[in-house]
Amino acid sequence: MKKNLQQILDGFHIEQFQNDLIDWFTKEQRDLPWRKDRDPYKIWVSEVMLQQTRVDTVIPYFHKFMEKFPTLEALAEADEEEVLKAWEGLGYYSRVRNLHAAVKEVKEKYDGEVPRSKEQFSKLKGVGPYTTGAVLSIAYGIPEPAVDGNVMRVLSRIFLIWDDIAKVSTRKQFEEIVRHIISRENPSYFNQALMELGALICVPMNPLCLLCPVQAHCRAFHEGVEKELPVKTKTKATKKVYLRAVVLKNEEGRILIRKRPSEGLLANLWEFPNDELPLQIEEAQAFAEWISREHNVVVQSLEPIGEFEHVFSHLIWHITAYRGEAIGQTSESETSKWVTPEQLETYAFPVSHQRIWKAYNE
Ligand code: ADE
Repeated sequence: MKKNLQQILDGFHIEQFQNDLIDWFTKEQRDLPWRKDRDPYKIWVSEVMLQQTRVDTVIPYFHKFMEKFPTLEALAEADEEEVLKAWEGLGYYSRVRNLHAAVKEVKEKYDGEVPRSKEQFSKLKGVGPYTTGAVLSIAYGIPEPAVDGNVMRVLSRIFLIWDDIAKVSTRKQFEEIVRHIISRENPSYFNQALMELGALICVPMNPLCLLCPVQAHCRAFHEGVEKELPVKTKTKATKKVYLRAVVLKNEEGRILIRKRPSEGLLANLWEFPNDELPLQIEEAQAFAEWISREHNVVVQSLEPIGEFEHVFSHLIWHITAYRGEAIGQTSESETSKWVTPEQLETYAFPVSHQRIWKAYNE
């Protein structure tokens, strides 16, 4: 049975908790590039990058992104190829396509100013309750909860909550709790401190409870069950997909690339031609025939480059890559181009295909 809010907050010292948490954050926070100022555009970009990606990975991308698109207007006016290229390697590309659409809307509808209103901000493309709370609290000091997986881990321990954090109803319960305990004087530091605590102290496997600034408030620590929380149901086993891909060069030394569909996995990124083919004895031969048919070329030779794996949240690609040569006429379309190696490197590719390209050149 879910505990109600009153039961959860009973005996909890809200003000002392806020002070302990915020004092710690004031002293111990990491020096991160998006903490240098309160520009809502920068905070927004950082929060989108930080969804599903580690801080260490995000830092260089954040710098590069801000060099290329220093303002919301600059991003709104950029073309999609360039934006995807700046995101190349960060993964979950729908995040940046949505962000791009959302900043265009802000430019047009709100004169380039990120809305302060929760109703307006949360209606923008790709903006959910977490991003809304994070941006509005950090940039504008508005007391909105920003509850992600890390914050749920922290709060499930502090309040000894055994509900499954994979459920939407559990996230809503945590948001409800935060609405009651968030500091009205400094919502920005309060939310960031919860995130920072999750990153530095209240980590998943071996939390550093002895260093924790809010240990005295933590019910899981008190009962010695911090490692058993949070409760999270397992997601389905990941499916393995076997693909074959080819780096195909024509007689002018140009390479064939194609654009992925505008919907779905890795939408609008570029890649080497590939297909999910049934395994059979004459593998390379069958693949050469497929390339010839699909891309209207004569494939002369096909040699293996290597095997590549790419793990997504819900599936794994296992790619067998080949190098090949095309002879005679070659044709192009909107989504299929023959490019020089220099041009190729200006297109955004999935990480697995970047690795194929690197191996091809070694
Ligand atoms: N994770 C998500 N948002 C963050 C932030 N603003 N700082 C550090 N880690 C985060």
